[in-house]
Amino acid sequence: MNVFKLEEYLAKYEFSAKYLLCCSDAESLSMSEVLAMGSPNEIALWDHLRLGYTKAPGLPLLRKTVADELYQGLEADHVLMFAGAEEGLFCSLHAIIEAGDHAIILTPCYQSLLEVPKLKGAEVTEIELTAENEWRIDLQAIRNAIQPNTKCIVMNFPHNPTGQVIEEEELKNLIALCESKGIWIFSDEVYRLLGSPNRSWARPAACLYNKALSLGVMSKAFGMPGLRIGWITCQDQAILKKIEQVKHYTSICNSAPAEILSLISLRNKDKILKRNNQIASENLFLLDQFFSDYRHLFEWVRPQGGCVGFVKYNRPESIDSFCERLIAKKGVLLIPASIYNYPSNHFRIGFGRKNMKDCLEQFRDFLNHENI
Ligand SMILES: Cc1ncc(COP(=O)(O)O)c(C=O)c1O
Repeated sequence: MNVFKLEEYLAKYEFSAKYLLCCSDAESLSMSEVLAMGSPNEIALWDHLRLGYTKAPGLPLLRKTVADELYQGLEADHVLMFAGAEEGLFCSLHAIIEAGDHAIILTPCYQSLLEVPKLKGAEVTEIELTAENEWRIDLQAIRNAIQPNTKCIVMNFPHNPTGQVIEEEELKNLIALCESKGIWIFSDEVYRLLGSPNRSWARPAACLYNKALSLGVMSKAFGMPGLRIGWITCQDQAILKKIEQVKHYTSICNSAPAEILSLISLRNKDKILKRNNQIASENLFLLDQFFSDYRHLFEWVRPQGGCVGFVKYNRPESIDSFCERLIAKKGVLLIPASIYNYPSNHFRIGFGRKNMKDCLEQFRDFLNHENI
């Protein structure tokens, strides 16, 4: 198994760097802030919660809430809960893909989207999203890559690290192609609900196609990665059963307190998402200003969704060296493209957190006083 470069990099710096300018999650809430939003019934659930094992597919009320709040036309039985998105991704790709299958993966990507199919012995074709194509999905390249044994297409929109989204029209065209060949779509949608869409975002893939799996999570737009609660939605209950059987070998079931806190948060989604989207949109405005001031150094393409963007550093110095100098001098953490195995001078920047001004002040100081 290849080392997970992003997680290694974050493990090295995330809890020691003073200014995290690369985070992919929104500003977190405290547990007491979440509990203060609970209705009397939800607080009673919390107060009387017993810390035994929970149901493997997830708390029925939580599964119903996920379906009702986020996936029009789907029901509780179409939702399976997991320990974060990572476990949902691992179990699903494990269940779908068999040795000898072919999988098409859109890259750069969160590394497990590429590694899990490989772990299962799949032959993998990577299709690179490119800056020239504004990081958009390239349907023709996908069509050309399809083989008789292609089982699954793996994608992530809004995209980490570029912030590009997929439009409904683009997704429908992809679905039509996959449907004609019986191919699954694994759609990592963990950055949905965050960002101010000015293009027509697609609905979740699982709402549109019976062979699509949509991955969602509390970690990103809700800013609650510490809950470790994610989910897979799919119209096909037979595949969900197979995926649940993989979960029996991983976490078995979810954390009971995390399920109740997720339930309260999802039922208060409008309030939480309004807060988090406001932080992100104010930060985006700061970034527009920042990169306009330094346009001789960087190429800034405004992300369309989520809270990360991919910025090009336009100097001969390698992006690894630049990021290393920045962390050593100022304690500001960015993520170089090499962590995504992407051969370019880009870095990932995150804009979901409240301390953006402080981070940018340090970054500015570095650019003004160091040898750039
Ligand atoms: C695209 C993508 N998918 C999945 C994950 C995993 O999310 P979680 O931390 O909720 O397991 C991440 C985390 O950064 C991600 O960026």
